[in-house]
Order: sequence, then structure tokens, then C-alpha cells
Amino acid sequence: MKEVHISLGERSYDIHINSQLLTDKKLLASYAAGKQVVVITNETVAPLYLDQVSAAFSEHELHTIVLKDGESTKNLDTYKEIIDFMIGVPCDRLSTIIALGGGVIGDLSGFVAATYQRGISFVQIPTTLLAQVDSSVGGKTGVNHPSGKNMIGAFNQPKTVIADIDTLLTLDDRQFSAGMAEVIKYGAIRDLALFQWLETNITAVMQKDAEAVAHIIKRSCENKRDIVEQDEQEHGVRALLNLGHTFGHAIETATHYQRFLHGEAVSIGMAMAADLSLRLGWIGQEECDRLSALLKKAGLPVEPVSGLDPAVLRELMQGDKKVLDGTLRLILMKGIGDSVIAENVDGASINATLEAFTSN
Ligand code: NAD
Ligand code: GLY
Repeated sequence: MKEVHISLGERSYDIHINSQLLTDKKLLASYAAGKQVVVITNETVAPLYLDQVSAAFSEHELHTIVLKDGESTKNLDTYKEIIDFMIGVPCDRLSTIIALGGGVIGDLSGFVAATYQRGISFVQIPTTLLAQVDSSVGGKTGVNHPSGKNMIGAFNQPKTVIADIDTLLTLDDRQFSAGMAEVIKYGAIRDLALFQWLETNITAVMQKDAEAVAHIIKRSCENKRDIVEQDEQEHGVRALLNLGHTFGHAIETATHYQRFLHGEAVSIGMAMAADLSLRLGWIGQEECDRLSALLKKAGLPVEPVSGLDPAVLRELMQGDKKVLDGTLRLILMKGIGDSVIAENVDGASINATLEAFTSN
């Protein structure tokens, strides 16, 4: 068992990382303090893992909510359906919500838990690589609004995160690669040793070797822990976790969330951030090439995106949530494992990067 402890005073918790955790009834049940448990999952994950998880709560009053799969479920309508259901039961303030699934289920369930009767406990059981290395950790929860992603939400830390690496064996390769974008991100922003380890061991990771996968999840959670402990609500250093995200979000929006998974757009965005850092003279060509090479080996795109207008991307970037008081902040690189929050970046250099990464 690998464990990572997050120290946030009363909101502290442990992340458990191992094989066969979903069959550990004692571990799962130990996090449901009250009598009632509500497992929230989706129609893809339920047939795979709901029975295993439910078995742990045979002594509890168990309710299950199985939602439609997909990002479009993460909205206020679904939020209200879940709240209506829980009020109808009725669930009391000692109830525990179990989020069983990827980031969509985790974000939505965490937001329900933050607000149901002013807040009840919730447990994250992430089943995608992205959720195990990023979204289940750190307490960002919420739903989308038609005007943009994650526009409604709350910081709400879970009681625990239970990352069973066996669940990744049913995840398709494309989704696994999307999660790798966030793992490589931790290496690029602050962990040269992880980056070098990935360069050496990428084949074992992509073959989902259990030891290698557990290692990258643990290192990713430790990196996220170190940042979240310093800056839980993103007033400063937590923004570094957004390397590649401002470019990536613009690409996702411009392609109507149809062409790229989030991790794929972040991968192109990281290649763009490296390219811009190179243009500013902050890193060399070799570092740029190393990042792109590793992303490619993880099955991720780094090439220019066809059919996109650089001016449209520029406009979308200006509307990003990371823009504060009209100032565009970009996460850029000073080296592999060394990143900065940059303001007032030379506009001509930004435009040159946008042009280099778009084509007709
Ligand atoms: P997702 O939840 O949509 O899961 C991806 C796909 O994998 C879905 O079809 C899902 O049903 C399926 N799936 C899940 N587990 C599976 C398994 N073990 N086997 C087979 N299929 C499985 O997507 P995601 O990439 O996990 O998460 C993306 C979401 O996370 C977005 O909404 C994003 O905004 C959010 N996010 C949140 C944070 C945060 O800090 N809270 C960080 C990053 C991303
Ligand atoms: N995924 C970015 C963050 O949690 O801050």
C-alpha cells in the first residue's frame, strides 16, 4: 500500500493507492461514519465496480445513483436531481457520499456533498488515471455552466481518496494517455526527478505495469499535495498546476469539446507553453524537444491543430478563468521541473506560438 497524507488542519486526509482496494470492505466502510451511504457513479463504471463497492456497505443503508456517462452530466440539472433524491430518501447530515468514477463523477459528487444540508462527508474512489493523479485530490469540486466549464463550485476536501490501480485495467488506452498528460505536467512544473524517471520507464507505465503505475500516482499525488498544502484555494502557487491549461482550454472550446480529451488538449497546450518559453529565451530547444518527446511516447498529441484560427484562440485565452483583473497569466517554463506564473508576456511571442500550433 502506498499512502499520501494531505495536511490541511481539520480537512486533512489520506490517499490510499494500491491494487485490490475496492475489495477491502473494512477500509471502505471505515470512512462511512453515519448509517446512510449514497454511491454516485455512472452507467459505464457501475457494471464494472458498483457491486464490489456496495459489498462494503452491507451494514449501512445504501443508496445508489447511476448517472449517464459524459461531461454533459456535470451540470446543475443533474446536481438538482441528486439533491432531490437525497431529500426524498431522506438522507441526514451524517450521510456519506461515495464518488465512484472519473473526474466528472468526482467533481459533481463533491459539489453535492459540499452543499447538501450545508455539507456532508464524501469519499473519492477515482477510477480513471486523470482522477487518481489529479481531480480527486485537492478539493476542487463543481459543475459546468453553459457559459463555461467549472463555473459553479466549491473547495471541498474529501474524507479520503481510495485509488485502486486495478480499475485502470478496464480504462481504454486513450483515456489512460489523457491522464498521463497530468503526470508529465507535475514533472515539467516542479519535479525533474519524476520527469527523468518517466523518460526511462515510459514503456512500463504505458503497459500499465502495476509497480510503475502505483509509483506515478504516488509521485503525482505528492506533488499535488505539496502545492495544495501551500495554497488550498489557488491564490498563488496552485496556479502552476495549470501548465498548458490556458492554451488547452482555448483549444477545447474552439473545437467544441469534440476533437480532444482534456488531457490531449493540455498536452498540446504544454507543448505550446514550452514553445513560448523558448521564444522568450527561458528554456532551450533541447528542453522543448524533451517535453514533446515524452508526451508523444505517452500517446499524446503535440502537433499543430488543423482548422483553427490563432486569433480565435487568442480571444478565448483572454476569456479564461485564470484571467484576473483583465491580466492574462500564463504558466511558463524556466527549465524542466521549473515553472513560473508569468504576467505581461510579450503579445507578439504569444501570437507566434499560436500561429506555430495552428494550421488550415
Ligand atoms: P470522465 O470522468 O468523463 O471519465 C472518462 C471516461 O472513462 C468516461 O467515459 C468514464 O465513464 C470512463 N471510465 C471511468 N472509469 C473507468 C474505468 N475504470 N474503466 C473504464 N471506463 C472508465 O473523465 P476524467 O478524465 O476522469 O475527468 C474529467 C473531468 O475532471 C472534467 O470534468 C474536468 O473538468 C475534471 N477535472 C477536475 C479537476 C479537479 O481538480 N477537480 C482536475 C482535472 C480535471
Ligand atoms: N487541476 C488543477 C488544480 O487542482 O488546481
